[in-house]
Amino acid sequence: MSELTLNNGVTIPQLGLGVFQVPPEDTQRIVEDALAAGYRHIDTAAGYRNEAGVGAAIAASGIAREEIFVTTKLRNGEQGRAQEAFQNSRKALGLDYVDLYLIHWPVPSQGVYVQAWKEMERLYDNKQIRAVGVSNFLSDHIDTLLEAAEITPAVNQIELHPSYQQAELAAKCRSLGIAVEAYSPLGQGGDLNGNAVTAAAQAHDATTAQVVLAWHLAAGNIVIPKSVDPSRIRENFAATSLKLTDDELASITALESGSRIGSDPAVASFTQF
Ligand SMILES: NC(=O)c1ccc[n+]([C@@H]2O[C@H](COP(=O)([O-])OP(=O)(O)OC[C@H]3O[C@@H](n4cnc5c(N)ncnc54)[C@H](OP(=O)(O)O)[C@@H]3O)[C@@H](O)[C@H]2O)c1
Repeated sequence: MSELTLNNGVTIPQLGLGVFQVPPEDTQRIVEDALAAGYRHIDTAAGYRNEAGVGAAIAASGIAREEIFVTTKLRNGEQGRAQEAFQNSRKALGLDYVDLYLIHWPVPSQGVYVQAWKEMERLYDNKQIRAVGVSNFLSDHIDTLLEAAEITPAVNQIELHPSYQQAELAAKCRSLGIAVEAYSPLGQGGDLNGNAVTAAAQAHDATTAQVVLAWHLAAGNIVIPKSVDPSRIRENFAATSLKLTDDELASITALESGSRIGSDPAVASFTQF
């Protein structure tokens, strides 16, 4: 499994399992399946209500804690009490430390994300978090954060898949040393049918999901595909050994359509995440 080095020297497996919309009661089993398949990186969030299942799977796996990279996220409604929210997540996970802690959404209408970041910097200083980052931050949110920040975010986790690439934002992140983490990397399954994707799948005797994931990996994105299906979990992991040609990569990049699936971070203000 290839690893990327974040801007503070911490390494992260480039492909992990996302557990958004994995029911809490199924999470332990699914994460155990993923760990058995070789995954060493799990992406959860307080808002997914399944941190306890992630932690239970890690405990049951017998795999050394330091071999597994765990991300969780600060819920929007808790940005004003980040320290307390973090401790609740850490306890739900049953871990002494979290590898990556993200501000889930900027919620600019709330005006609290800079305050939350300062609290997260203290958690980082106290070694309770190995890396701090953001999610759904657009260019102006990054600029505002950096004006006040002592620490540059290690990661920006954003919606990114062939039909919605946010190329300008991704390039800005990379130029600042912020790693780009692609959420909904398969377009929630909607990006698996393009001609360029199916042609590459046929050429390599691979699946369309593997082709899309290989495209991400070639671009240097961190990817966290979600599946509740053990065979798809294994299939997605195997994408790490698929190498596409430059022409195939370019034809998939040409699938950009400019349509997002998720909410617009400029205005999103829900509190469940
Ligand atoms: N930061 C944020 O605001 C944010 C927002 C959204 C997502 N995320 C993170 O990103 C992760 C992934 O995003 P996502 O869940 O939205 O979308 P995704 O990973 O792009 O797609 C998941 C969908 O694709 C299906 N799928 C998975 N592997 C497949 C395969 N090999 N073949 C065919 N279909 C396949 C899954 O179905 P089955 O489960 O039935 O296999 C599910 O319906 C989340 O779990 C979460 O960790 C973060």
